[in-house]
Amino acid sequence: MGAGAPPAPLGFSLGLLLLLGLARAGGAYKPVIVVHGLFDSPADFQHLLGFINETHPGTNVTVVDLFDHSESLRPLWLQVEGFRRAIAPIMANAADGVHLLCYSQGGLICRALLCTMPEHNVDTFISLSAPQMGQYGDTVYLKWLFPQHVKTNIYRICYTQLGQDVSICNYWNDPHHRDLYLNSSSFLALLNDERLHPNASAWKRNLLRIQNMVLIGGPDDGVITPWQSR
Ligand SMILES: *[C@@H]1O[C@H](CO)[C@@H](O)[C@H](O)[C@H]1NC(C)=O
Ligand SMILES: *[C@@H]1O[C@H](CO)[C@@H](O)[C@H](O)[C@H]1NC(C)=O
Ligand SMILES: *[C@@H]1O[C@H](CO)[C@@H](O)[C@H](O)[C@H]1NC(C)=O
Ligand SMILES: *[C@@H]1O[C@H](CO)[C@@H](O)[C@H](O)[C@H]1NC(C)=O
Repeated sequence: MGAGAPPAPLGFSLGLLLLLGLARAGGAYKPVIVVHGLFDSPADFQHLLGFINETHPGTNVTVVDLFDHSESLRPLWLQVEGFRRAIAPIMANAADGVHLLCYSQGGLICRALLCTMPEHNVDTFISLSAPQMGQYGDTVYLKWLFPQHVKTNIYRICYTQLGQDVSICNYWNDPHHRDLYLNSSSFLALLNDERLHPNASAWKRNLLRIQNMVLIGGPDDGVITPWQSR
């Protein structure tokens, strides 16, 4: 989910850029693909782009311009499909592979991409403040989206077929209604192997093509609840 102005406290950025530098091969930096979060757009990443340009000049960075702003509420599998079409040619152009840097909700989209792209060539997957174990908590966004409901009631909407057409519901993980979550979540319960499905071993194999995974999160986020979800 987006906190408005992403993100990346500079300390984190420096660390992950050093890491990308270590993975440098053949004298050129691998291209970086950035997937934004809820209610974000590529315009929110100027700071990060400047920082990459400063420390690793010449890096080809693409912030995918899809499902911006309120479009980011579209169902996640639909977004995964769109992002797949956008990034497949970038991967095809990168003989040495690419790095994938995914912010917030984008971190879930990227994990689903890695699971469902058997030929991907992602070297390092960076999940920046992404609710990989789901979301359960009030945020400014939820209060705006569900003004009549507090967090204890959102499951009534999210765990329906209609609810699963909203991205947030795809990873709404209400610990008080685990049976409903397991039965109804069409995205996170599958991605986390919490509901059995025939593609699980293929997804695992595809995901494990990456060389490095970097998970970044902290208690001061204020959006992802609980923060340990990252
Ligand atoms: C990258 O940094 C150089 C040197 O500071 C600057 O001239 C150039 O405009 C920057 N490019 C981008 C895309 O930010
Ligand atoms: C950066 O990557 C994109 C996507 O592969 C490509 O279209 C573009 O030509 C590249 N730009 C440069 C300067 O290499
Ligand atoms: C599980 O989901 C199916 C289809 O969405 C629904 O028909 C069924 O009633 C649900 N079962 C429970 C226990 O919620
Ligand atoms: C499993 O993969 C097949 C082929 O890629 C696809 O058609 C099907 O929808 C997938 N099933 C699940 C549960 O994702």
